[in-house]
Amino acid sequence: MGFFDRFKKAIKPSNSLLVNMNDMLAKANAGHYAVPAININNLEWIGAVLDAAQEMRSPVILGVSSGAARYMFGWRNVVNMVENVMQNKKITVPVALHVDHGTYEACVDALNAGFSSVMFDGSKLPFAENVEKTKEIVKLAKKYNATVEAEVGSFEAKDGTAADGELADTNECTAMASQTGICCLAAGIGNIHGIYPDDWKGLNFDKLIDISRNVNNIPLVLHGGTGIPKTQIKKAIELGICKVNVNTECQLAFAHAIRTYVENRNDLDKKAKGFDPRKLLKPACQAIKETVIEKIKIFGSENKA
Ligand code: 13P
Repeated sequence: MGFFDRFKKAIKPSNSLLVNMNDMLAKANAGHYAVPAININNLEWIGAVLDAAQEMRSPVILGVSSGAARYMFGWRNVVNMVENVMQNKKITVPVALHVDHGTYEACVDALNAGFSSVMFDGSKLPFAENVEKTKEIVKLAKKYNATVEAEVGSFEAKDGTAADGELADTNECTAMASQTGICCLAAGIGNIHGIYPDDWKGLNFDKLIDISRNVNNIPLVLHGGTGIPKTQIKKAIELGICKVNVNTECQLAFAHAIRTYVENRNDLDKKAKGFDPRKLLKPACQAIKETVIEKIKIFGSENKA
């Protein structure tokens, strides 16, 4: 199916509860704080993250990878779940539903399904092609009043042993920021996804300053938020980071809570019906909520909704 065929079959509910990232990131940029971008993986995750954001009066971005979307039975189901949970919980803080590291196809499909924002990850393409494809995604996103994040450089640890993540080329960042109409830019400043190796050298603030000075005030995004020391996160926010992505840390908190529940043999308590998934997952949801609340405090987005 071609680009415009996909667009033709698009259905976007006009009464969407979701917002794009423009306003929330502009405010974060002006106010020197960052909006948490938390990956969601299932229905319970959605509820836990939204509860945290609402309780803290923080705007929030819900990130969805293509794998997570498949796990949740497709982009449209994710849109429906998020909007229904928002309605059920009477969520009033701004919520953006955002594709995390989407291919071109994934971004098109998610926009057509009602996502309010996408990250097009063209980092593995030759740079000129990354720019061209980003422009096309921006064009489609505009039709939906949706926003686009672009990526320059990558955040993958090489064989899990990278002591230092990739540093983006500043000229490429400038070109991406000035030529495409993106809302925000993710650029490598030594950060990587997942757990940082013991010999990780930390964020490269000289690179962040250099990029920040050369992208005409476009909000910058920090990926790989798990495990970066609090002082480095705060410094990065002072230097222009307006969105921080966190995934692994919530997964670890979720898994740890389930482990504790099972190790305490709560699932074997037949009288209390400890095997009921609603009981089994309750402490895990609480663990996600607490993790997100902690992030909101560090990122400074409390009471910014
Ligand atoms: P972590 O899993 O390291 O928190 O990174 C999340 C991320 O950057 C998603 O794009």
